[in-house]
Amino acid sequence: MTYTSTNPLLANLNNLYLEYIGLIVLLSTVGVLLGIAGHFVIIGPNAKRLGKLKPEIVRLTPFERTAHFVRMLSFIILAVTGIAFALFHVGTLGLSYVAAYKIHLVFAALFTLSSLNSIFIWLKDSIFKTYDRDWFKVMGGYLTRKEIHPPSGRFNAGQKAFYWFSTFFSILIIFSGLMLAYPGKFGLNSLLWASVLHGISAIGLIAGVIAHAYLGSLANPGTIGTIIHGKVSREWAKNHHPQWFEEIEQK
Ligand code: HEM
Repeated sequence: MTYTSTNPLLANLNNLYLEYIGLIVLLSTVGVLLGIAGHFVIIGPNAKRLGKLKPEIVRLTPFERTAHFVRMLSFIILAVTGIAFALFHVGTLGLSYVAAYKIHLVFAALFTLSSLNSIFIWLKDSIFKTYDRDWFKVMGGYLTRKEIHPPSGRFNAGQKAFYWFSTFFSILIIFSGLMLAYPGKFGLNSLLWASVLHGISAIGLIAGVIAHAYLGSLANPGTIGTIIHGKVSREWAKNHHPQWFEEIEQK
């Protein structure tokens, strides 16, 4: 579909976006998956031994896990229905377009609530500290087979970066999505911007979340349990998050 706008630059941008969105989604997703596969084969999981120990320290509270679970589930459903709209201009999984659109709106509301909740409860743990520089200097040890554990608080510098990345794009996708859901309230140019920004945020979030899911599971044995039962082993905490471990030991 092509749009006419009072602003030719914006109209061209939107038409370019509509023409290439499928290709960009495909390339970014395949690119991240190839990067993950390459990392897994060449470098492999970080500190495998930490995955076999008994989880005994509470890392995520039931409240944090519920918010993360709702955010994760709603994100997956939004991504599947959203990709179906963008690429094929149809509904998905045998659903009509109208049914898929309704599902998209319901899960968008859940994504909004759970995102705002997660952004709020993890804000304090995501403020950068001076020791985070040392984590960045060695990229968290992810680029070497040697086991190294740079300084880290409750969240390491990479997780903090992902927190800010996902916060920025979640807010952008929520606001642009709200505008697209109420088209009668906005002018054409604003809606064209909303459409482009909604797509760009979706591409960023999908690629970022795939990488995040890999880092929270296969790349770091012993981590995935935090979003299921909420606990990690003492050794896991001591090695991956030494500053946080010290804090909880003192408590
Ligand atoms: C799709 C599957 C997902 C998996 C497997 C997953 C896994 C995880 C795990 C294991 C943690 C805890 C890490 C730790 O305790 O050190 C975590 C935390 C977190 N998750 Fe997810 N997650 C997923 C989806 C999402 C989505 C969709 C978002 C937001 C759009 C998100 C945002 C976060 C944030 C901000 C944190 C805290 C900081 C961090 O660990 O990076 N996650 N996730």
